[in-house]
Amino acid sequence: MDNILERPVVETVKLSKRYGDGVGTWALRGVDFCARPGEFVAVVGASGSGKSTLLNMIGALDRPTSGFVKINGQDTSKLDDNGLAALRGGTLGFIFQFHYLLNEFSVLENALMPLSICNGGPTSDDVEWVKSLLKRVGLADRMKHRPGQLSGGQQQRAAIVRALANRPKVILADEPTGNLDSQNGALVFDLLRELNSLFGIAFLLVTHDDRLAQEAERIVMVEDGRIVADYEVARVEEEIDDRPIA
Ligand SMILES: Nc1ncnc2c1ncn2[C@@H]1O[C@H](COP(=O)(O)OP(=O)(O)OP(=O)(O)O)[C@@H](O)[C@H]1O
Ligand SMILES: [Mg+2]
Repeated sequence: MDNILERPVVETVKLSKRYGDGVGTWALRGVDFCARPGEFVAVVGASGSGKSTLLNMIGALDRPTSGFVKINGQDTSKLDDNGLAALRGGTLGFIFQFHYLLNEFSVLENALMPLSICNGGPTSDDVEWVKSLLKRVGLADRMKHRPGQLSGGQQQRAAIVRALANRPKVILADEPTGNLDSQNGALVFDLLRELNSLFGIAFLLVTHDDRLAQEAERIVMVEDGRIVADYEVARVEEEIDDRPIA
């Protein structure tokens, strides 16, 4: 028996995507990629290299032209629309550059939205879980506010809680800090890192910020629809930090 903890939570096999008819644009060209449970992977590459397309295919937001994606061992090409909706609602969480919070609803209601849409509505346990997350990200006193009354960094933190509401196994984050100044971007990134180690959720995070990418466990570089580099980030200082204080 293989070790379930080592089984990939995300796997792509010869994943290709062409936009448009005929020759079109090949946004992905045969990408083979795996992420283990709880891994924190930064996806980097030039504008137009295929990063968002890769995340969108993994998140089943769009269908590949060829190849396939497995989430938790399940081939998403074999799922019908209901199966895909269940996967998106139950296993995956999404964070985008823009928060897409709805101003008609409070911060708490927005964060509960994935549970309101899927799974028959939030239970009282769910509400407590989401409230505890909002507190953890520093929004304890903003739960009843409308998103428009929050700062950009606070809005993105509310969107992060929304992505965690359904207790996903994988979070797909497409430039979650791209719309923030560098200080707020670093705060949001640190928060994602903390949530990753607390809850063992795998993160695939697209970023243009090389300094932030260096804080990931692993960096995947995309160029012209292909993965051209994939390496673990060396972390010497953590070994030093781990030593007991004399
Ligand atoms: N809906 C679409 N229709 C046609 N072409 C598209 C579409 N979406 C993306 N493309 C093309 O596919 C290629 C990859 O785009 P993608 O959005 O994945 O790049 P990216 O790496 O996320 O870039 P950025 O860093 O600018 O967000 C680009 O050439 C882009 O123009
Ligand atoms: Mg993109």
